[in-house]
Amino acid sequence: DWTAEHIIDELIADVQAQVGDGRVLLAISGGVDSSTLGLLLARAVGERLTAVFIDHGLLRLGEREQVEAALRPLGVNLVTVDARAEFMAALNGVSDPEQKRKIIGREFIRAFEREARQYGPFDFLAQGTLYPDVIESAGGEGAANIKSHHNVGGLPDDLAFKLVEPFRTLFKDEVREIARLLGLPDAVRMRHPFPGPGLAIRCLGAITEEKLDILRRVDDIFISGLREFGLYDGCSQALAILTPIQSVGVMGDERTYSFTAALRAVTTDDFMTAEWARLPYDFLATMSNRIVNQVHEINRVVYDITGKPPATIEWE
Ligand code: XMP
Repeated sequence: DWTAEHIIDELIADVQAQVGDGRVLLAISGGVDSSTLGLLLARAVGERLTAVFIDHGLLRLGEREQVEAALRPLGVNLVTVDARAEFMAALNGVSDPEQKRKIIGREFIRAFEREARQYGPFDFLAQGTLYPDVIESAGGEGAANIKSHHNVGGLPDDLAFKLVEPFRTLFKDEVREIARLLGLPDAVRMRHPFPGPGLAIRCLGAITEEKLDILRRVDDIFISGLREFGLYDGCSQALAILTPIQSVGVMGDERTYSFTAALRAVTTDDFMTAEWARLPYDFLATMSNRIVNQVHEINRVVYDITGKPPATIEWE
């Protein structure tokens, strides 16, 4: 594809002109925008890029390994940070959704600043800002969008970066095309959005390691199932939610009293409004069977049939 290849050359030349021999810091969320930017910057400035991926313990099954496997072989100087313990400690006992977001945002900035000091000094902070983010700062890719958590102008003096935003004029499908040419694996390239606060806002109420572990296994069955049945790309976003509801069930001769998991899949153009995805009943039946058979902490599975509005896509 001549056009996208031409755009890549131009973006690389622009970055090189802006950055000179400066050093660049990038937060990787694991989503398509920041991952693609990592690949582009690796081509443009090589080792003068440091990409930081913070594992806050609220990721999905295998996600950190997937990000490492996608970026390191393509030359991205990637630092992964295990910040799970500090996030869990900060979130201990917190059940209010907005409070969870605030704490995660604060801890994210704290961890990111620490890494910036450890590997710095840096002259530039790169962000995968897209054209729609420029005209309206809604939705977004999550943890890697520093501005959604923190005003860059408000960082401490020794972290007063200049911004590098090569995708400011691009739309998502253009970034996906660039990602393809740069060799980003399709699983990352076509990935649904995943919120910065991660599984914390899908594990309703106060989170614990045990609950996150249950949710991770349910989510993995659902998302893998969507891929296996060829339904993933037809949904804009799909997620599993662990509810605090316990209900009575029966397993063999035993009565159970276990948790309810909810599945949600939506179609949308802009994430401002959304329809629930009309997934085939047979597929939902298969998912329900797999979940209750493989995740013993779950004895009931429900499918969310609410649009946005009045519901939101996430449950918190
Ligand atoms: P809602 O739930 O508001 O979600 O319908 C709309 C889109 O935004 C994502 N979302 C978030 N992304 N931080 C993020 O980075 C957040 O706190 C957050 N809350 C929701 C959600 O996954 C969906 O794509």
